[in-house]
Amino acid sequence: MVSLVALVAACTVQIDETEQKINDLIARMTLEEKIGQMFQVSLDNAPNEQILQVVREGKIGSVINVVNPEAANMLQKAAVEESRTGIPIIFGRDVIHGFKTLAPIPLGQAASFDPQLIHDCARMSAVEARSVGVRWTFAPMLDIARDARWGRIAEGFGEDPYLVAQLGAASIQGFQSDGRLSDEQAIAACAKHFAGYGAAEGGRDYNSANIPPLLWRNVYLKPFEQAVDAGVATVMTSFNDNDGIPSSGNEDLVKNTLRDEWHFNGFVVSDWTSMAEMIAHGVAKDMKDVALISIKAGVDMEMVSPAYLINLPELIKEGKVPEKAIDNAVRNILRIKCRMGLFEKPYVNTSTPPAFYTEESLKLARRAAAESAILLKNENHLLPLSETQKIAVIGPMADAPHDQLGTWCFDGDKTHTLTPVGALKGEYRHINHVYEPALAYSRDKNTSRFDKARRAAAAADVAVVFVGEEAILSGEAHSLSNLNLIGVQSELIKAVKSAGKPVVLVVMAGRPLTIERDLPYADAVLYNFHPGTMGGAAIFDLLFGRENPSGKLPVTFVREVGQIPLYYNHNNTGRPAPDKVTTLDEIPLEAGQTSLGNTSFYLDSGRDPLFPFGYGLSYSSFEYSNLILPDQMPANGTITIKATLKNTGNVAGTEVAQLYVRDMVASVARPVKELKGFQRVWLKAGETKEISFELGISDLAFFDQDMIRKTEPGDFTVWVGGDSNAQLKGVFSIPE
Ligand code: GLC
Repeated sequence: MVSLVALVAACTVQIDETEQKINDLIARMTLEEKIGQMFQVSLDNAPNEQILQVVREGKIGSVINVVNPEAANMLQKAAVEESRTGIPIIFGRDVIHGFKTLAPIPLGQAASFDPQLIHDCARMSAVEARSVGVRWTFAPMLDIARDARWGRIAEGFGEDPYLVAQLGAASIQGFQSDGRLSDEQAIAACAKHFAGYGAAEGGRDYNSANIPPLLWRNVYLKPFEQAVDAGVATVMTSFNDNDGIPSSGNEDLVKNTLRDEWHFNGFVVSDWTSMAEMIAHGVAKDMKDVALISIKAGVDMEMVSPAYLINLPELIKEGKVPEKAIDNAVRNILRIKCRMGLFEKPYVNTSTPPAFYTEESLKLARRAAAESAILLKNENHLLPLSETQKIAVIGPMADAPHDQLGTWCFDGDKTHTLTPVGALKGEYRHINHVYEPALAYSRDKNTSRFDKARRAAAAADVAVVFVGEEAILSGEAHSLSNLNLIGVQSELIKAVKSAGKPVVLVVMAGRPLTIERDLPYADAVLYNFHPGTMGGAAIFDLLFGRENPSGKLPVTFVREVGQIPLYYNHNNTGRPAPDKVTTLDEIPLEAGQTSLGNTSFYLDSGRDPLFPFGYGLSYSSFEYSNLILPDQMPANGTITIKATLKNTGNVAGTEVAQLYVRDMVASVARPVKELKGFQRVWLKAGETKEISFELGISDLAFFDQDMIRKTEPGDFTVWVGGDSNAQLKGVFSIPE
């Protein structure tokens, strides 16, 4: 039995040995070789002799976008066996929600509220990516997104800092083999985009963010701090400025917070030319200025722009940059390369062919797609359908193998996508169905086949209409100012409903869309954030009841795009709107100067969203009761909150029980509620279970106006329920 002391000593020795090895290496490196480590170049899968020579000269520390084992090994040989230092290259790639086998996009995975699932999907991605030589992924994206106009809402885990932090940490552990970074199938993760990228004004990608200090620390930075605690190997600085300071030049963010306060000891990489873009931001006059500002901020590696490569030598010669700053950057990079075992195992193992789309991977992708779907409406228990019913399968997303995969699937192969129509040709071929796409793709405006679709519905027992967004309509740079179903999809739904049969609406999109105007024509709505390779099978598993929906919304669904930003964990304001507000049709004619309420809401769309954060139905129904908690936070600083959960339905199902907390009075206004716990609970029909949540005093801490993190005494309200409108509530206090 190795004693703990011996174990700690061994680890310390290991770390010291690594640091010693790094220092020895740095001492032997030329300035040019050091700066080479700080440069990442994007290459295709056919490196030429010129590039190999640059590698041999030690001028490239990282390569992005090579996903061919032979090409990777050729480049690596030049670095390891033919350069003076023999330092291996680290190969990076955006493996965001899968490499070949695609899980749902991250926003979809978030709807599962299942950290283990997110962990396993990241693990699956790492195994497939590693097999072609990828050693580093630029994921998870931890940007809080409160604006569905922003196309990259697809790529993160939603609007809530607690959920994003929990799922981000799970994703990191999955990519990095639970901390064993040198594991044969681990890849380094990257917490991105540091920071505030999701608060782009107007939801326009790359736009300025204007996040004030309290929101910055209490919301936007939280997931990144937890990522560092989870041992993330790298962090990526974001394109945006916050209040005029671009992240790649933000010394307070990178050096003071990330390094000095959080003790991050991996390395920081810029985003794609985000350093060079500081010229366009207007904070750098030229690339030399870019290099000076970035190295001062603490960016270790430059993604694809050459500011460091070209200008650092001169800046050092001029004494404007101490060589120690270069040594620090290189030390951070080499530390991760050492931890990853890159020196010991630099090459891709090509002895065994890569194993993509294995039965195990496809099964996981199918489960992920099923857990990620959210049942938003189910009038008269229309769902689940019977497998003996005749269904009319309609719409542009019913057989869209590329679009179903969603954004950021560089390497996913659409020929492996199982679409809903594909599933009906396979294990669901026994279903009596007729297929009429009616539209060729989501933006198609040709209504000439609407009548055929209507007739198909009329001849069936039920119509299932598959609508949504093509993959290209979300993701990077793809912002929208209108969130209605694009093209004439809403008209198609109406036309199908006019056949007089029940309509199931299945949405596949990269973001929450404004579907209020479509709801009257849908008896049931199943919402999928681009569900990935196995989405088609998973959707029918859910529609026919082989799976019971359990997904919950990781983002608020607004009624109108004009309500944005609208999110559940908002401040109360001095004039919070009541449950009942004046709406347009209640305004008297010639109302004159009569006031219509004096509180915070919209005359046309009211106060509330269409569907709140955390919302999602099931084929079961769940009841919360009997909330139990002590009046005061116990002296040990942990309070246990219990409740009784019952499955009052007639089928087994999983409920995501959620815990929300409000700090009633504090030195700064605190949100009306914040998610502080969640758990997936499976219950048989009629089964009752006691659930409990542990809440630590530090879980209630926040940054006050002096930017000091603390938990203040006072009263707290807690709610336990199935969404952010949970009604079962209790109170406790923290004594002075
Ligand atoms: C892109 C994205 C970033 C990605 C990087 C490499 O512009 O902003 O998320 O990891 O460049 O592709």
